Formats: sequence, C-alpha cells, structure tokens
Amino acid sequence: RVLRGRPRDLVGRKIVVSAGGTREAIDPVRYIGNRSSGLQGYALARTAVARGAEVTLVAANVTLPDPAGAAVTRVQSTAELREAVLAASEDADVVVMAAAVADFRPAARHDTKIKKTDGEPEPIRLTKNPDILAELGERRRQRSGGAAVVAVADVAVPGGSAMDVAGAKGVPAVIVGFAAETHDVLANGQAKLARKGCDLLVVNQVGEGLAFGTPDNAATVLVAGGDPVEVPFGPKEDLADAVWDLVAARFA
Ligand code: CTP
Ligand code: CA
Repeated sequence: RVLRGRPRDLVGRKIVVSAGGTREAIDPVRYIGNRSSGLQGYALARTAVARGAEVTLVAANVTLPDPAGAAVTRVQSTAELREAVLAASEDADVVVMAAAVADFRPAARHDTKIKKTDGEPEPIRLTKNPDILAELGERRRQRSGGAAVVAVADVAVPGGSAMDVAGAKGVPAVIVGFAAETHDVLANGQAKLARKGCDLLVVNQVGEGLAFGTPDNAATVLVAGGDPVEVPFGPKEDLADAVWDLVAARFA
C-alpha cells in the first residue's frame, strides 16, 4: 500500500505501539498463546511513521517484516512485553497497546520438557499477569498528582498547563487501548475504558472470522469525555489512521 498523502501531523511525537500476542511458557517447548497476527499493530506503526512520528514497535511473536523507519523490539512473554513497553513509555507522548496480552500464565514453568512417560498429565495451574495498560494509566494518575487526566487540553494540574503533563517524565499524554469483545461490546468497552484510565479504546467485535489474522477490520473507538467514533469495515490501515486522527486532535 502506498502511504503517501497522509498529513504530517505526528512530527516530533514519540509513539510506542505494542503488537502481536504474548506467549507464556509451559516448558521449554510449549506455551499458551493467542491468535493475534500483529497486523493491526504493524499497520499502526507504519501509518504513524508515515505521519511523521518517531515509532518504537514492541512486537510479540509476530512473523511480519520490520516496518521501515520504526525501532523494533521483539519479545515473547508478557513479562518481556511489559518491561519493553514501560521502558519505552518513559519518554513517549503516546502509547498504543494493540498487543493481545495473555491474562494468565502458568504459575510454574517446567525447566525440562514434560514427557509422556511421566505418567498422567498434571493440570496446569494459572496465575494472573500484570495489566500493562492499567499500569500505564495508574502511573500517569500518580505522576500527575493523583488527578484523573481527562484530555490533553483539560488536565487537572494546579498551576500547570496541558503541556507540563504531556511532557512530564513517564507520562504519555495519550494512552490508547484495544479491546476484543464477543458480547455487550459497547457496555463492556465503556467499562474497560474507565477501568484502565486510557484516553481512547478501540473496540472490536470478535468471532465469526472477524479481526484475527485478516487484513480488514471494523471497530468503534471510544473516546474518554467524547463521542464514540465508528470506523467502517476496511483495511487495518484505515482503522490505524482513524486512531491517529483522534490522537492528533488531542494535541491540537
Ligand atoms: N492489556 C494489558 N495487559 C494485560 C491484558 C490486557 O495491557 N495483562 C491491554 C491490551 O493490550 C488491550 C487492553 O488491555 O489494549 C484490553 O485488553 P482486553 O483483553 O480486552 O481486556 P482485559 O482487561 O484483559 O479484560 P478481559 O480479557 O477479561 O475482557
Ligand atoms: Ca484480556
């Protein structure tokens, strides 16, 4: 796809995008994973570069070629993704969590391959993973003095301006989440947006061959303190551009 003809409205912005899906090791050869291809995250990275941003792409188990012009860090587990995203977010203006992050991981990882000859298999006990998006939102809340950041232009910092917060260390001005929902899509999405403290939440309906591994996508982008934006079924680049339009508007 030709990426010419885009506005250069992200020049000077440092943007972190996570893509793909994390894998949690059971033993040295097996893992618990998910179906994320990384296509949406890569489309976000490519279009952000085309719009002038300085992009760090944290890619979890993606088999796509590195997008030109982006700095790519490859990770596997949620722990690795978390470390890479939090580190890159320290001086980022925008963080987009497009990766499908495993909610749970095996509580213990076997050091050696589990063998059939070991007898009847043991159940795999799971434990919760940290929620990286919620952590980013929480970190911003704390570093901006405990006030909820509603919008870049409307930041509740006594005596401070929006740009003080946008430029503060470790405080991305715009945090974007993704959510795949199978039912009660909008209600679940609104609750998730509030719970995670993000500014935008891209909500996909999944199931029936939608979203995973396909070049096309449709979504509703929920906006904190604003009206939702419907993005019709089309190339994942179009959804990416719709996200960047909303992100650029937050800086305007
Ligand atoms: N996410 C994250 N860390 C996790 C789980 C999810 O950062 N441990 C991020 C995803 O990258 C996504 C957003 O949170 O941007 C929403 O993910 P989703 O799986 O829809 O939400 P959950 O809070 O995990 O809720 P559930 O899976 O129960 O619907
Ligand atoms: Ca989840």
